[in-house]
Amino acid sequence: MVANAEGSVFTQELEEKLKEICKKYLTDSRPGDWEHTLRTVEWVKYIMSQEGGDKDILLPAAYLHDIGWHFSLPKEMRNKNLNSVENLKTYFKGHLEYGPKMAKEILQRLNYPPDKVQRIVYIISIHDLPELVKEKEEVILMEADRLDRFGRAGLERSRKLFLAFDVKSIVKRYEMESSSWFCTETSKKVFKNLLKEMESLT
Ligand SMILES: [Fe+2]
Ligand SMILES: [Fe+2]
Repeated sequence: MVANAEGSVFTQELEEKLKEICKKYLTDSRPGDWEHTLRTVEWVKYIMSQEGGDKDILLPAAYLHDIGWHFSLPKEMRNKNLNSVENLKTYFKGHLEYGPKMAKEILQRLNYPPDKVQRIVYIISIHDLPELVKEKEEVILMEADRLDRFGRAGLERSRKLFLAFDVKSIVKRYEMESSSWFCTETSKKVFKNLLKEMESLT
């Protein structure tokens, strides 16, 4: 694999190819998963611009982090809201099992360097388990992913995903749990602003 001028192997060409693959699966997944993925990628790019981090690891991980939902959800459940706690638990667990496997397969098909694939796959396997998140790239992906639960976009996403639930109480729970989610100064600041934005809308 050839590195670009910045010494990165995650070239624009590769990003386009990966985007196309992810779009196919994530537009047939939970409602809004593709848009959520694109926003997560944007947050990763922003946090990296302030805090550093390995682009070759973080960008593929951001595109692929929720790919497991497509495989975890039965066909008839795709693009439908998750309307029971049982559904949430079952398919959530599945997305952390299928996600790493599918990410590995996709990146290998794209001839991504094996050491980087291994790291990306690990980060995807723990992206929704804050208690296991330790290293910089793990932190940045978790932050970017979870920032998208807040602000206008986060609120709209919760409404689509949890139609049958009381969205206000979900937002409250997120707010209470979020103290351990944001570690970098950049994300802490963004989080504060998104909270304000969301509070003015609820
Ligand atoms: Fe996830
Ligand atoms: Fe996510």
